[in-house]
Amino acid sequence: MASIEPMDAEFDTVAEWTAKVVEGLGRQYRIPAACRGSGRPSALDWLLAGLTPRPGDLMIDIGAGLGGPAAYAAEQTGVRPVLAESESDACRAAARLFGVPVVRADATALPFADAVASHAWCLGVLCTASGPDAQRAMLRELRRVLRPSGRAGLLVFLAARDRLDNPPEGNHFPTRAQLTEMLHEAGLTETAAADPSSLPPPPAWWQGCIAAVDHELRCRFGDAPALVTALEQSHRIGELLRSGELVSQVIRLRR
Ligand SMILES: C[S@@+](CC[C@H](N)C(=O)[O-])C[C@H]1O[C@@H](n2cnc3c(N)ncnc32)[C@H](O)[C@@H]1O
Repeated sequence: MASIEPMDAEFDTVAEWTAKVVEGLGRQYRIPAACRGSGRPSALDWLLAGLTPRPGDLMIDIGAGLGGPAAYAAEQTGVRPVLAESESDACRAAARLFGVPVVRADATALPFADAVASHAWCLGVLCTASGPDAQRAMLRELRRVLRPSGRAGLLVFLAARDRLDNPPEGNHFPTRAQLTEMLHEAGLTETAAADPSSLPPPPAWWQGCIAAVDHELRCRFGDAPALVTALEQSHRIGELLRSGELVSQVIRLRR
């Protein structure tokens, strides 16, 4: 049997399956199920309170996945999202689920003009870069596409110490000090940071939607190697967060 790249399994194959399941269940499942890295609405609200977008403003979602966070931002604020995502199935699924513009693109070389957007965010993506050089390139690109004084948001997973014993395959977690240095090098100014777990948990209806989609995914694709691999990846991240070896943060930035 061909081996499965964990990143492809989690962000491409399972993203497409998730979209299929959501389409069968109903519209109210779309946003919760499509927020794959950002988890809870309170973290998105916290970031949006710092971005302060106005209706019609252009916002780039970098590494947008299935597009749930961008759709949430549009619903809450009237912002006009454009999605950039590297995995082809995720791009197609996001466009189908939300009818928004999606560009297949690498976050280290975005196909957008300089200073085109007043707002951007990049949620749960930095640690999936191939290493520190790619992480620096992602942050430089985030800054480049922002207007002067434009605002951005990050959701990051950070290593509590220099080396993790058994990180999930394909992930590279910077420490807080390394991230601070990379932000400085990229010309991004941090204005606030918060621990998402200190923000309110998702409402019961949101959690119910995620549980229903997960249940359906397991029923339909439970034995498929891609789903097994994707679940192992997220299980390992959960373990690292619970043990304190990994911490997550939401961060408000200004160009
Ligand atoms: C953990 S998911 C988060 C998805 C979404 N931001 C969210 O919060 O729901 C990480 C996403 O980043 C994408 N990604 C990883 N590396 C990327 C790159 N170099 N360029 C563009 N997207 C990338 C993955 O394909 C995946 O969809």
